[in-house]
Amino acid sequence: MELENKRFTVIQHPLVAHKMSYLRDEAARPTEFRQLVSELAAIEAYEALRDAPLKDVTVRTPLADVPCQRIPSGAITVVPILRAGLGMLEGVHRTLPAASVGHLGMDRDETTHEAHPYYAKFPPRIAESTVLLVDPMLATGGSAIAALKYLRDAGVQDIRLLVLVAAPEGVQAVLEADPNVRIWTCALDDGLNEDAYILPGLGDAGDRIFGTL
Ligand code: PRP
Ligand code: URA
Repeated sequence: MELENKRFTVIQHPLVAHKMSYLRDEAARPTEFRQLVSELAAIEAYEALRDAPLKDVTVRTPLADVPCQRIPSGAITVVPILRAGLGMLEGVHRTLPAASVGHLGMDRDETTHEAHPYYAKFPPRIAESTVLLVDPMLATGGSAIAALKYLRDAGVQDIRLLVLVAAPEGVQAVLEADPNVRIWTCALDDGLNEDAYILPGLGDAGDRIFGTL
């Protein structure tokens, strides 16, 4: 699979490689793991918002007026997929504190790996905003596909999926299921094991973030 095409980007940056090496390490404790997830999410948000919408404003410096640009309020909504996606929220907010937040709870059957939404709370004008859908892991793609369908049904046009580790099977499934979504990841791994865990991956992201191992 190519590392870059119009809809799929593997972020290649020394800082990402450095942080991923610590994130993957089984010795990382939840405090360090959470911190790294957050830092990587901040970098991903920066990358994924390169073409964020801007409006012209005039700002008064202590000396003169100056034409500037700002991202309009409500233009960006971050939607973490519960539970593990919550670990990325603080990092995205560090990059863009004004982003609104929608929550989407997804339940995944551990045997069939099928995902179903069980909770959703979105800002009222989510349909007009750019949505950063965040979840550290893209494995089979089932959770992301169900989340994308839910957001499309809510009328959202511009959805950018931000993950930290992706399996090629999951990337392909998501790109096929949703012809308009764009995906950013910090790493593209080898594939899935028989339990649909990403190899080499980093294990269960939610358990490592929340200390439920
Ligand atoms: C993990 C992960 C994704 C999903 C990826 O969540 O955070 O949501 O699995 O797998 P998929 O691509 O095969 O759907 P999990 O269901 O383990 O729940 P959690 O966030 O509560 O840990
Ligand atoms: N969910 C995870 O947390 N890790 C994986 O490798 C696959 C799904």
